[in-house]
Amino acid sequence: MSLIRVENLHKSFGSTEILRGVSLGIEEGEITTIIGQSGTGKSVFFKHLIGILKPDQGRIWFRDTEVTAADTTTLVEVRTHFGYAFQGAALFDSMSVAENIAFPLREVLGIKERKETARRVGEMLDWIGLPGIEKKRPAELSGGMRKRVGVARALVTKPEVLLFDEPTTGLDPVLGETINDLVVRVNKELELTCVVITHDIQASFRISDKIAFLHEGLVAVEGTPREVARSTHPIVRKFIENSFNELEV
Ligand SMILES: Nc1ncnc2c1ncn2[C@@H]1O[C@H](COP(=O)(O)OP(=O)(O)OP(=O)(O)O)[C@@H](O)[C@H]1O
Ligand SMILES: [Mg+2]
Repeated sequence: MSLIRVENLHKSFGSTEILRGVSLGIEEGEITTIIGQSGTGKSVFFKHLIGILKPDQGRIWFRDTEVTAADTTTLVEVRTHFGYAFQGAALFDSMSVAENIAFPLREVLGIKERKETARRVGEMLDWIGLPGIEKKRPAELSGGMRKRVGVARALVTKPEVLLFDEPTTGLDPVLGETINDLVVRVNKELELTCVVITHDIQASFRISDKIAFLHEGLVAVEGTPREVARSTHPIVRKFIENSFNELEV
């Protein structure tokens, strides 16, 4: 059985229907990437997974818990299993790197003890390859370093699932690779289930166990990279060909 099961999710804002019956299974221990055109509802879909948005119709389960029917206490519990970095989620500029990473420890797990906090923050900084930058401010870091600190913040609670919305957008290709490699390490070394939304189609083909192509409010195509590459869906074809053509320019 899938770790996360999404069934027939519908969501409108006003009279605009964004999700029109999204169904998807997210398998434990895998990397699933969600791709699709801008504005198609990828980020909206993500926010449903941990109950930040409520669907108009449809259901989501995380293991045996129905997220879409959960009361506040249950949702708080469900979220302790997730680490997330939402699109455009910036670090808090007024806080140091250490305070940024420690934030979910306090807010999600209620850990306030200073030694334990410092130990966990240090461990995460080592893990992302940026030891010793505890006291720095986000403004002193490069874009790639900030993204990595964002990953550390998402992982510090030792979640089972990492949700990552557009981890590489705005980074140069080399830094983008560093972040993609980090997602693979998270998946392999920490054995986390990863769900990643990305515009980087080539990376999605390289790192994914499963790709879901969201189009006009539905999962138009899903499968292994090999299966999706063979899809005859016209929009999927266009999307893939465009992104691979860029290589030859
Ligand atoms: N809270 C909201 N209220 C009203 N409309 C919203 C809200 N959140 C998202 N939308 C609309 O839903 C649509 C889908 O948005 P979403 O952010 O999910 O797109 P996306 O697929 O993530 O795009 P991108 O690739 O550009 O990030 C957009 O038209 C957006 O304006
Ligand atoms: Mg988005």
